[in-house]
Amino acid sequence: MATESSAPLRVLSGIQPTGRFHWGNYFGAIRQYIELQSAGDAYYFIADLHALTTVREPARLRALVHDAAVDLVALGLDPDRATLFVQSDVPEVTELTWLLMTVTPMGLLERCHAYKDKKTRGVAADAGLFTYPVLMSADILAYDATVVPVGEDQVQHIEVCRDLAGTFNHLYGDVFILPRPRLVEAGARVPGTDGQKMSKSYDNTLDVFEDPAAQKKKIMRITTDSRPMDQPKDPLGDHLFDLFALVATDEEREAMADLYRRGGFGYGEVKKALVEAAARFFAGARARRAELERDPARIEAILAAGAARARAQAGAVLDRARRACGLARGASTAPPTAPRGHAAAQPGRTGPGATR
Ligand code: TYM
Repeated sequence: MATESSAPLRVLSGIQPTGRFHWGNYFGAIRQYIELQSAGDAYYFIADLHALTTVREPARLRALVHDAAVDLVALGLDPDRATLFVQSDVPEVTELTWLLMTVTPMGLLERCHAYKDKKTRGVAADAGLFTYPVLMSADILAYDATVVPVGEDQVQHIEVCRDLAGTFNHLYGDVFILPRPRLVEAGARVPGTDGQKMSKSYDNTLDVFEDPAAQKKKIMRITTDSRPMDQPKDPLGDHLFDLFALVATDEEREAMADLYRRGGFGYGEVKKALVEAAARFFAGARARRAELERDPARIEAILAAGAARARAQAGAVLDRARRACGLARGASTAPPTAPRGHAAAQPGRTGPGATR
């Protein structure tokens, strides 16, 4: 079998269309999508089936999916280089989910943090929420993905995927490729305005395409500590500084870190600098978005072409899995194996060409 470094890179990731993308989505995941689209074969999708566990209004879901595609393209996802599609346009994945479900131990799902957190917060759990990681595993395995760029909160789900693929392979032969997560150090866990992980569920987000006045208000309300202004402070671990560092230039970041260490500044100054750096950082994407919004047919054509490419790939993998476990009657009894040259990659914190 090929070694990890000689395996062709097959990148895949998904993102839920549950509202406008926030900085956590961008710096943890989307920025990696864009970076990796030139490094290998890349598949990116809008996870509308996963979103169904929270969005219950059909018209809103349709609008959110369209908006998510506009956002991704505006942020630099290039449909000529990467395959961009909508999860539910590939029904092969839901059949694959069932095959995986039959090898999924309940205990494995019960231990998933995302599920446990929602239950703790009193969110009524349905089977969709509980089995969410199995659908996510099918998403990944259906495309023979080797690398899955994500933020830290998704790593456990990728471990579940590797577990399920391993069990299936053990039972039925070498059907699936084991993927590994890819994280970026500076964006793996972007803090929100309150210092917890940035998340829509915590209502602490800064959104990528937010109205500038609304965003300024949110930034000015970012929580800070109450130490006196003249006291030197450590920029490390300060969430206001971390947010600034994401959108500032290298020189600005260094100058701000010096200011923290010297002391004698007010957090208001940092917040003002953050407002300005954020506006500058996303200005180009904002302008592209305004243009793309005027051409909805173009976005729908991109998604249709992406779905056709994605279905061809997922269909081949589903066929392999069906035959391996005895569902395809009249087919050869020798189950086809995963394509040569794809390695069972090891999990790791960073991947090839990982940034920062
Ligand atoms: P979702 O839609 O919640 O988030 C999309 C991506 O954004 C990352 N992210 C963050 N990264 C850093 N800091 C944060 N504060 C932050 N918040 C979100 C997430 O880690 C993710 O990479 N289950 C997935 C969607 C999915 C998927 C897949 C992903 C479905 N199938 C297959 C990869 C492969 C989710 O809900 O992500």
